[in-house]
Parts: sequence; C-alpha cells; structure tokens
Amino acid sequence: MPAPSVAPPELLAGPDELEAHARTLGAAISADHPDGVTLVGVLKGSVVFLSDLARHVTVPARLELVAVAPYDGAAGRTRVVKDLDRSVSGEHLVLVSGIVDTGLTADFLLRHLADQEPASLRVCTLADKRARRILPLTVHYAALDAPDAFLIGYGLDYAGRYRNLRGLWTADGSALADDPDRYVAQLHGGRT
Ligand code: IMP
Ligand code: MG
Repeated sequence: MPAPSVAPPELLAGPDELEAHARTLGAAISADHPDGVTLVGVLKGSVVFLSDLARHVTVPARLELVAVAPYDGAAGRTRVVKDLDRSVSGEHLVLVSGIVDTGLTADFLLRHLADQEPASLRVCTLADKRARRILPLTVHYAALDAPDAFLIGYGLDYAGRYRNLRGLWTADGSALADDPDRYVAQLHGGRT
C-alpha cells in the first residue's frame, strides 16, 4: 500500500535569515547588559542558536548549560537533569531556549534560576509559539514568532533527528509520529 501523502516540509527561516536574527538579538542583549551577561542555554534544542547568538554578543559573556527532563504532564512537573556547575548569584542571566511552546519548561527554569538570586533574569528564544502558551511568560528576546506547527532544524529535533539542518522547517507532527525519519531523505538530501 502506498504511504499516505504528507505535506512537504516548509522552510520557515533559512540560514541567512537565522544569522540576521542572531545578529539582531545579540546586539539587543549586548545593549541591555553593558556590564556583561551570562547566557544559560537549555540543552539540547538551543545549542545551534546559542552558538550563533553568543558570537554576536559584544559584551563579556559567560556560557552555561542546563537540561531538564521532558515535562511529565501526568505528574505535572519536570526536573533538572543537568544543573549549573557554578553559582550565578548576582549575575545578569539570559535563559536561551530553542523554543518556548506551552511555557512550562521555561517557567520551571526561571524559578530554578531565580533561586540563585541573579542580578537580573530574562528569556531569549529562537522560536516563540505564543498560540500554545499555557503559562503567561515574558519573552524578552524572540527571533521568530512561530506558527502552531511542529518545527525541526537549527537545533530543534523530532526524536533526536534534524537538529543539524541549517534551516528551520515546519513539519507535519502526525507524519513524524508515524515515522520519525519521514523527512530525512527530503531534508538531508539537499544543502539547506
Ligand atoms: P514547553 O511546552 O514550552 O515546555 O516546551 C517544551 C519543549 O518541547 C521544548 O523545549 C522543546 O524541546 C519541545 N518542543 C515544543 N515544541 C516543539 C517543536 O515545534 N519542535 C521541536 N521541539 C519542540
Ligand atoms: Mg526535542
């Protein structure tokens, strides 16, 4: 039986546009933090964006990484699986996320970071999926307002795939649920 037809992936932002966003946000973060900033990346989805963003920050910057377990809807909580490895008390922090969807992860991490009594605490995200927000959350720096679709590429994954694509794509979430490798041939065959 032939596979059911699936909408092809659509390019939401290509490498040049993503680079321009990193430059714009890096300049904004630098202007707002003249004395320096600590960028706290959320593993793993932020690493590609963080790497580009950090190189456009012109004030002294420290890089830190945290990771959380996927949000457990049934238990109504998540937990830190990789914590900061030093105190960031008194520092100006920017939490850098690949995507803010419901906001549960970012809200949890903001509360976790606030425990350290930083001098300031802001949120930066590559993609802001505002339509899906459950918790109100102030996102100070967002590269893209994302549509209510599943996004892959430029650090964002489905089941570990697609993070190393140079562009950010919208994909069919139910097609990915059927076959996580559905877009591999299409998206890794070309160069974007
Ligand atoms: P939250 O719903 O804001 O807590 O987001 C939880 C996490 O789900 C994000 O950090 C991502 O890891 C993942 N996620 C949510 N939407 C997408 C998407 O469109 N593409 C890839 N990962 C996503
Ligand atoms: Mg993921």
